Amino acid sequence: TDLSAFIARLPKAELHMHIEGSLEPELMFALARRNGVEIPFDSVEAVRAAYSFSNLQDFLDIYYQGADVLRTEEDFRDLAAAYFDRAAADGVVHAEIFFDPQTHTDRGISFDVVMRGLTAGMDEAQARHGISSKLILCFLRHLDEEAAFATLRLAEPWLHRIEAVGLDSSELGHPPEKFARVFEAAAALGLKRVAHAGEEGPPEYVHQALDLLKVDRLDHGNRSLEDPGLIERLVREQMTLTVCPLSNLKLCVVGDMAEHPIDRMLDAGLRVTINSDDPAYFGGYVNDNFGAAAEARGLDREQLVTLARNSFLGSFLSEDEKAAHV
Ligand code: HPA
Ligand code: ZN
Repeated sequence: TDLSAFIARLPKAELHMHIEGSLEPELMFALARRNGVEIPFDSVEAVRAAYSFSNLQDFLDIYYQGADVLRTEEDFRDLAAAYFDRAAADGVVHAEIFFDPQTHTDRGISFDVVMRGLTAGMDEAQARHGISSKLILCFLRHLDEEAAFATLRLAEPWLHRIEAVGLDSSELGHPPEKFARVFEAAAALGLKRVAHAGEEGPPEYVHQALDLLKVDRLDHGNRSLEDPGLIERLVREQMTLTVCPLSNLKLCVVGDMAEHPIDRMLDAGLRVTINSDDPAYFGGYVNDNFGAAAEARGLDREQLVTLARNSFLGSFLSEDEKAAHV
């Protein structure tokens, strides 16, 4: 359609994408074969059929299992290269991607193997597609503070390649306050800070992300809408929210795309962006997310341009780089 061609042509930044969540079933099988890893599925179709989730934890269980095929530097490079090829086709010119080092170090894969592979993929994407990218190291919030501190120590030799720390995994029962000290230590190392908050967790978790983690950007943030004072604060502080429509649908954060709050967020004056979260698991890359939200909520071209513009304004590019994009 006209609108999908318009979306496809819009230059955009992607700010909420877990690289492990871009592992397509085809690559999962190829890596399983290459590494001699058993996976509990007979076919690509069987893998896709298993991607039916009723909440965040349902998804996380299968997502961590899928990541088990990632073993070598080459695997992480191939994973990143596949994402950037796909993102480039969607008009993504800059991506700030999450990775979950603890998912790998806890399986005996070294932090350095993960970093060498991912940064090789990023450098190739810059050369092949002209896509710039930055890495965001996420702490797994279901693990403890000490494990997060140990991960931050592993990151120290790589700070020149890491832009920010983030917080992901099981939200309920793991409030941001659990990581206040490790985020403070990350800030002291010069890292920016983001956190998943208000996906399943209450508005109080968003307040904690702002007050205790001092985040520069908020991932998801949907449940902020339940707290009018919080909305007002997010607008006033020009906080960027990285919203993920297909993820919200697949993880039952919204019951139906027709109920997605993206246009209410825009109307409230929030600096919202559209992102793919875990594209291989949720059924689409960034343009699919723009298209699904636009169709369900009747977004017009002006709103789509605002969303794309917000993606650059909310990025960690320099002011000069932002100015070149907006
Ligand atoms: N929420 C929390 N943790 C995650 C997600 C998410 O949407 N995707 C990958 N890890
Ligand atoms: Zn996410």
